[in-house]
Amino acid sequence: MKKVLPFLVLVMFISGICSGQIIVKNLRCENRINPLGIDMLNPRFSWQLVSDHRNIQQTAYEIRVSDQSGNIYFWNSGRLTGSQSIFVPYEGSALKSATTYYWQVRVWDNQGKVSGWSAKAFWQMGLLQAGDWKAKWIESASAADSVNGPALLFRKSFVAGKKIKSATLFISAHGMYEAHINGVKMGDAFLTPGWTSYHKRLQYQAYDVTEHLLHGKNAIGIQIGSGWYRTNLAWDNNRNIYGKKIALILQLEINYSDGSQETILSDGSWKSSDEGPIRSSEIYNGEVYDAGKEIAGWNTPGFNDQGWLGTVEAELPKNILTGTYNEPVRAHEDFQPVRIFKTPKGEQVIDFGQNLVGWEQININGNPGDTITIDHAEVLDKEGNFYTDNLRAAKSRNIYILSGNKEEWLRPHFTFHGFRYIRIKGFSGKILAGDFGEKRVDGNGSSIKPGSNCLRVVAITLYSDMERTGSFSCSNPLLNQLQHNIQWGQKGNFLDVPTDCPQRDERLGWTGDAQAFSRTASFNMGVHNFFSKWLKDVAADQNADGRVPFVVPNVLDSMAGGSAGWADVATIIPWNMWLAYGDRKILEDQYASMKAWVDFMQAHSHDYLWNTGFHFGDWLFYRPSDDNDGRSAVTDKYLIAQCFFAHSTQLLINAAGVLNHSADVHRYTDLLNHVKEAFMREYVTPSGRLVSSTQTAYVLALQFNMLPENLRAQAAQRLADNVRNYDDHLTTGFLGTPYLCHVLSRFGYDTVAYKLLLQETYPSWLYPVKMGATTIWERWDGQKPDSSFQTPGMNSFNHYAYGAIGDWMYRNVTGLDTYDDGAGYKKIIIRPHPGGNLEYAQASLETGYGKLSVQWKITAGKFMMDVEIPANTVASIYLPGANVGEVLENGKPLSQTKEITVSGKERNYIVLQTGSGTYHFSSTYLR
Ligand code: BGC
Repeated sequence: MKKVLPFLVLVMFISGICSGQIIVKNLRCENRINPLGIDMLNPRFSWQLVSDHRNIQQTAYEIRVSDQSGNIYFWNSGRLTGSQSIFVPYEGSALKSATTYYWQVRVWDNQGKVSGWSAKAFWQMGLLQAGDWKAKWIESASAADSVNGPALLFRKSFVAGKKIKSATLFISAHGMYEAHINGVKMGDAFLTPGWTSYHKRLQYQAYDVTEHLLHGKNAIGIQIGSGWYRTNLAWDNNRNIYGKKIALILQLEINYSDGSQETILSDGSWKSSDEGPIRSSEIYNGEVYDAGKEIAGWNTPGFNDQGWLGTVEAELPKNILTGTYNEPVRAHEDFQPVRIFKTPKGEQVIDFGQNLVGWEQININGNPGDTITIDHAEVLDKEGNFYTDNLRAAKSRNIYILSGNKEEWLRPHFTFHGFRYIRIKGFSGKILAGDFGEKRVDGNGSSIKPGSNCLRVVAITLYSDMERTGSFSCSNPLLNQLQHNIQWGQKGNFLDVPTDCPQRDERLGWTGDAQAFSRTASFNMGVHNFFSKWLKDVAADQNADGRVPFVVPNVLDSMAGGSAGWADVATIIPWNMWLAYGDRKILEDQYASMKAWVDFMQAHSHDYLWNTGFHFGDWLFYRPSDDNDGRSAVTDKYLIAQCFFAHSTQLLINAAGVLNHSADVHRYTDLLNHVKEAFMREYVTPSGRLVSSTQTAYVLALQFNMLPENLRAQAAQRLADNVRNYDDHLTTGFLGTPYLCHVLSRFGYDTVAYKLLLQETYPSWLYPVKMGATTIWERWDGQKPDSSFQTPGMNSFNHYAYGAIGDWMYRNVTGLDTYDDGAGYKKIIIRPHPGGNLEYAQASLETGYGKLSVQWKITAGKFMMDVEIPANTVASIYLPGANVGEVLENGKPLSQTKEITVSGKERNYIVLQTGSGTYHFSSTYLR
């Protein structure tokens, strides 16, 4: 203790907290730190309180918004009473396009302290109206502009005649672009402008380019490939979905130091070329890069573009341009080869040790025209050969043609691949790991010296740059690997839209997969903005009749939608985001879409029974191949549909409650009662047996409260028995799996839930782990015990849907949760469910209020639990198996801990109420 005290004082000194003092940190505007390109008229502010005292609540706050100098104030909220510290809307004078605003906040707490003003944060507005876009859409005069044609280059040089104070580049494209100013790539985002329902919404990006502009001559160079805009998506040569021609819109706003302004616009004076190095680039098929066609200096001022083609101004819509709300796709981890080897077929293959999404970067010094072909695969087959059959029609191939006689760093631009292995053809020299230092991705300058006849390679991951918010680990290494696989499934498939898989000719925003995984996703990473953006496309692509597409953005037929459990994305994700982040706006924004979907189901029902239309059902449920006595777990599709009809209606009622739409609460409560009555009539016997005796049927009926109270316990018993009948194996597909363990836990079958979680043989979560998986598989048996594969037509090794178990691991194993009526962890529940012979488990979550964490361990009959609760929240803590008299907090009996109240006993838990702070509990525990 003697040593600890001075250390604590030092920590407090360094972090600026004196005892009891309160400070404000982590200022965010629309969830982002100092964002650019905000085009909401009332952006919202969030902040966090830090104090070394327990039970801190904010009682009041004050926000002020000014220009940089602090001379002009656009808003001073004055002291406002209240505990709201997230999503407080701006309410000052009208905000102007392309203008930067600075904001600060200070708070008062319930212990009589007031913080100082926080450090200043800022945000910059985007172009608020179509009329603010003075730029013209331009297309190239190139005749070669087609899907299989080259990426196009666009350029413009100009003179910035005065000293530059600040400059912002606004840009979007039809296609996928990389932007350069004076030879340097702008920003660190890739695959821009991202993927939306382009005809209705097209995001633009804003870059602060101040330091890249020169007083004098400058040049802008933009390279644009086909991207999602026009390459094949889905099947049957489904290309040019959004259009045929590549196009660019760009507006550079320059503020000079003397207060004057200048704007550089895309217009018909720009030049273009189809002679650049990217000869073709497609999402599924990969890129052909001919380095011999690199045009030195094309994006710099001195370049002579006289021989270049012209451009044509095009009448394309600007009113669909919208600021980028989600985090951009960025390059993240590097993976070095873990094995460089020849397969039995004699092919040169490299294993990166992790199934990932992104591309390779290579460094090579070869001869002009040398052609290196790189293929991508997720797995090796039984014999150890490179296996690509499961990519179906996707070539997933990059071809690099060397300019030669110099050191070259090459990577693709407008494609991505899902892979763990690459196969290299066209190179017979030595292959080495490539640690490219500053040359990584695009940097200039490197310390690496050219090697003759050697190729260095690294794999670089790409995914939406969401904040890493959650962690989970425990004493069972297989579960830790499962958590790793879930997180990698999320990384690989959260690539601007939530995709089903990243490797085959699909990579689409499948709605069912996304809804199933969304709650888990919200633990691992900050997915608020990611899903907010995507949900806007869900609403945009929803049919006029309320039908929600199978995939969003919808690249299939407009009638391809309305499947139970897929279309319910329209209600499930908004509600899950509300729970995770406590942001009413997402419910407001999506409310019409939620309602339209429920109305669709009602309109397609007879006597409240929704038994029409096409449904995917409990996709990929258990079905053994030689099923003579009927072990397959087939659940009636319309029974499933009725359950989701009720569930979506319930979520709509919940949302209507939050938004105070009381007439809707009444209307849809009445509907819900009818929907449940119809379910009972059609699918349940008087004794409570369901017409489908599958795990999924019982799980959905119980999870969505389809049965009256008196029939629930027997149904849960039937579910538990069913699991035992399959020797403690699950049989659920995409729709039953997310709720399976939750239902078991809710009805007192934790032990059964743990048996399922820890099951190591097929079908189970740990079977793939035992088979060496590094991501979640699409199928429970993607690879069979004898190492042969499931059918190649449907066998992705990176499909996050079954990773939905992560939600149970966070919310039950460690017990981190939020109350619905204190959504976003304003009112926290900590209710661990120890079991499965785990000796310890820990989870943490960066909530809107700050860090929430729990760690429990069981040693020598004692249950010990450390929790951290962020300021400005309250928490109910459930201590399992505890006798209140034996509970100690920090070594002291609860009666001596004034910040904690004992509120009762529930099942075999002692329930405590407290507020922020760190707590260490210990109690007697009998397994
Ligand atoms: C996708 C799925 C999707 C399904 C529809 C598949 O091809 O990969 O994950 O949900 O189709 O059932």
